Amino acid sequence: MERKIIIGNWKMNPRTEEEAMDLVREIVNKYEERDEVEIGVAPPFVFLEGVSNVILKRNIRLGAQDVFWEDQGAYTGEVSVDELKSLGADFVIVGHSERRRLGETDKQVNKKVRQSLNSDFQVILCVGEPKGMRDKGVDVAKRFVSGELEKDLEKTKTALGRSPENLIIAYEPLWAISSEEGSEPATPEKAVEMISFIRKFLEVNEIAKAGETRVLYGGSVDSENAGEFLGRDEIDGALVGGASLEADEFVGIIESIE
Ligand code: PGA
Repeated sequence: MERKIIIGNWKMNPRTEEEAMDLVREIVNKYEERDEVEIGVAPPFVFLEGVSNVILKRNIRLGAQDVFWEDQGAYTGEVSVDELKSLGADFVIVGHSERRRLGETDKQVNKKVRQSLNSDFQVILCVGEPKGMRDKGVDVAKRFVSGELEKDLEKTKTALGRSPENLIIAYEPLWAISSEEGSEPATPEKAVEMISFIRKFLEVNEIAKAGETRVLYGGSVDSENAGEFLGRDEIDGALVGGASLEADEFVGIIESIE
């Protein structure tokens, strides 16, 4: 079995640095390193340095929740790849649906993906259909997801040819994200079907060869249901929101991997 990857997306949590430090310390204390699993956390920018110091000697990766597409300059409020790297981050989540809802376009997502890949920085690209699309049937949902992939991965072939492992896709159907009203986790079958479709899309479009790009599932994963998703060969891991804010839950998800 391939190594699974579990990433905690803290979103805009917790409220203070002290709480952030408590959370990461608790994770570090409770988590036992295992070969079968690779783990990472993506705290808000302001906590990256503190979290980085705590996980320094542990096998836990550090990532950011967004990045800007320029190297440096007059871009008030933005954060560059080099700035993130200088704090010890080695991956970034791009195109999360909560950012898209705030107005981030596929064009902007594409620039961020390209900037990261060109800077040899690993990207977790989030894609997923809203409930209205899923309600119209799985083919409509697939068309929506392939449309996102097409636009978000434009002009990335050269960079990916050099380092294909730098791209990870997270399939996160919006209707399954725990903070969405009336959300429910996708079934492992639904997740597997879309993830297989995503893999096929990457192959057919010569973006990735089989097995080179890992595809994760995200949406209401917790320590109770994680085993069902992570037990499937097609699912390379999980992007975890709400449940990553409690050390017991997050460690429980990791431990659910057989
Ligand atoms: P959730 O969030 O696990 O709370 O559903 C997942 C995500 O939004 O990345």
